[in-house]
Amino acid sequence: MLRHLVTPLQPAAAETLAHQLLADALPRRWSHVVAVAAKARRIASSLEQDGELLETTAWVHDVGYAPPVATTGFHPLDGARFLAAQAAPARVVDLVAFHSSAWAEAREFGLAKELATFEDERSLTRDLLWYCDMTTGPDGTDLGFEDRMAEVRERYGPDHYVTRALDAGMDERRAAVRRSREWLTSVGLADQV
Ligand SMILES: [Fe+2]
Repeated sequence: MLRHLVTPLQPAAAETLAHQLLADALPRRWSHVVAVAAKARRIASSLEQDGELLETTAWVHDVGYAPPVATTGFHPLDGARFLAAQAAPARVVDLVAFHSSAWAEAREFGLAKELATFEDERSLTRDLLWYCDMTTGPDGTDLGFEDRMAEVRERYGPDHYVTRALDAGMDERRAAVRRSREWLTSVGLADQV
């Protein structure tokens, strides 16, 4: 049984929670999350007050895949609802709800109304979370953004709804990656993440 979180949720507690939900049940997903969080941690010290928030959110961004959490099967929504029920900070919940172009996907899945109960903050921190996620393969390997998108398309095939959802959010994803790369270059991190 999961215990309720003590707010504010910080990286160590977020890691423990994600480990509890994913490590045994979905080990490949867990490897992905570990790599996304490691990337977020490398960025965190340059992000000033949002550094901890970025790392915390990276740890929990995919908890919606965990069997006890996956109620609708749309992992950003399931993860956000679960974290909200755990009294996680609102920004963590919102960032998880909208991560990696979830809004475009929600429309494809007919879950836009449900996702609209959360808020997309459209910040640099949000872009960087997307960047960390979308440049990390499903097993945790480093992948360029275009390779990562091609990997998803190949895994599901051109007619699958996941691929349609991917395409629906592609412009927004590319824009977030471009803004992230510009910022990473400006702080001298472009070669490190
Ligand atoms: Fe992810």
